[in-house]
This record gives sequence, structure tokens and C-alpha cells, in this order.
Amino acid sequence: MATPANLRQLPKHIAIIMDGNGRWAKQRRLPRLAGHRQGAAAAQHVVETLLEYKIPYVTLYAFSTENWNRPRVEVDGLFRLLEERLDEGIKYAQEKQIKVHHLGKLDGLPPRLQDKVKRAVELTQNYNRMTLSLAFNYGGRDEIVEAIRCLIRDGVPAQEIDGTIVSRYLYTAGIPDPDLLIRTGGEIRLSNFLTWQSAYTEIYFTPVLWPDFDKKELYKALIAYCERQRRFGGLAQEQDIISDTKQARQKR
Ligand code: IPE
Ligand code: IPE
Ligand code: MG
Repeated sequence: MATPANLRQLPKHIAIIMDGNGRWAKQRRLPRLAGHRQGAAAAQHVVETLLEYKIPYVTLYAFSTENWNRPRVEVDGLFRLLEERLDEGIKYAQEKQIKVHHLGKLDGLPPRLQDKVKRAVELTQNYNRMTLSLAFNYGGRDEIVEAIRCLIRDGVPAQEIDGTIVSRYLYTAGIPDPDLLIRTGGEIRLSNFLTWQSAYTEIYFTPVLWPDFDKKELYKALIAYCERQRRFGGLAQEQDIISDTKQARQKR
């Protein structure tokens, strides 16, 4: 397998909707929580690989504001799992100089989990090898509503509000918009993830279930990204612009 150094332009920010844990468990007649455990291990491997590839921003969607609609036992299990992973994760982040960031609301989460998230963020705030954002109790719409509330609270005059200011009021303030968003598990939707930030993000959907998303699958996503042409509403190639200008001149 070639190394990503061969790839043209790697994304600076990769965001992932880690979906398919439940189905992975079901296929094996295991409880859903076993799927989440395996999913957490997959997340660890993906972060290790992205660190090797020197990707500076990684965002993982781990629990949405809508995931509260799941049975209490699953929700509690996910909270416990995150707590456990944070204990391990803080050590790993310190060793690898990863800055941990949280996207979402702490309110409503069990107090012990809140403390652990705050601790992870505090203890790693000065690292800069990678910013790892954990979207936990996160909802894109909630994030925008919260930003509007804060803009009003701060008395920002209506005529001063623009995209840059709104971005500064989001959980992702200071983090560039994702270049690549990967969703595993086969669903073709964003499920309230990075609603504002993904306006021009390249999206890669794969049927692979999250616990099976390994280095090879990640590499496929990176290749697909490198083959895309990002236009941001403009034209693809300098060549298109030149030939169009020539044609226009000839018509005159
Ligand atoms: C994603 O896997 C993890 C969370 C939403 C917490 P799912 O639990 O949604 O897995 P499926 O979609 O049921 O297979
Ligand atoms: C999205 O997956 C949320 C996370 C991966 C954390 P879901 O499984 O909750 O999404 P839907 O319900 O299929 O849209
Ligand atoms: Mg799902």
C-alpha cells in the first residue's frame, strides 16, 4: 500500500460519523454495547493512523442530541464507555501531544463524565500536534441556536453579524471547516452533524460498518478525497477560465 505522502493533497480536517456499531454487534449476535466497544477501538486505531499521516484536525461524532432517544441502558452504556475511554485517552493524548476538544453540551451529561471531559480538555489545551474534537451530546442545530443566543446576549449589532462572527460563536471556533467528512454504516445523511461547518465539505459515504473501518478503508477515503475537485462555486481549472476568456475575446 502506498503511503499518503503519494497522495496529492491530504485534508487538513477530517470529520467522521462513526455509524454502524449496533449492526456490527447484531451480525455477531452480541449486545449493542459490544459493538460500541469495538467502535471505540476502531476510533483509537483511526486516530493513531491520522496522527501518522499528520492530519492536524480530526472530529469524531460519538453521541448526537438525538441519541437520547435510545433505550436508557444503551445511553448509560455509552456514557460509561466514554468515561473509560477518557481515562485511557488522556494519557495517550499527553504522550502524543494531542489537544482534546469537546463539541456539544456538557449540561445533561452525568456529572462525573462532565468532569472527565473538562479534565481532558484542560490537561491537553497546550498541545498542537493534532486537535481531536469529540462531538458528544452534539447537535448541529442546537449549536447554531446556542450561537444565536450568545450573539444576542453579547449585544452584537445586527449589521456586524457575518459568517466569520457566527463561526466564532460555534463550538468549533478556531477550527477550520472540515475538508472531508466520512460516514460509515451505509446511511446517506448527515444526522445533524456539523450543519454550518460542512457547507463545502467533501462527503464520503461507505457501507462499511464503523468497527470494520480499518487503515485500508481510511486510505480508500483519502484517495477518493484526493480525486475530487473542490470548486467552492468557482471554476475547476485555470484552463477552463483561460479558454473561456479566449472564446469571449474571439466573439467580440
Ligand atoms: C453509531 O452506531 C454510534 C452511535 C450513534 C452512538 P449505531 O449505534 O448508530 O449503530 P447502528 O446504526 O445501529 O448500526
Ligand atoms: C449518527 O448516527 C450519530 C453518531 C454516529 C454519533 P445515528 O445512528 O444516530 O444516525 P441516524 O439515526 O441513523 O440518522
Ligand atoms: Mg446508527
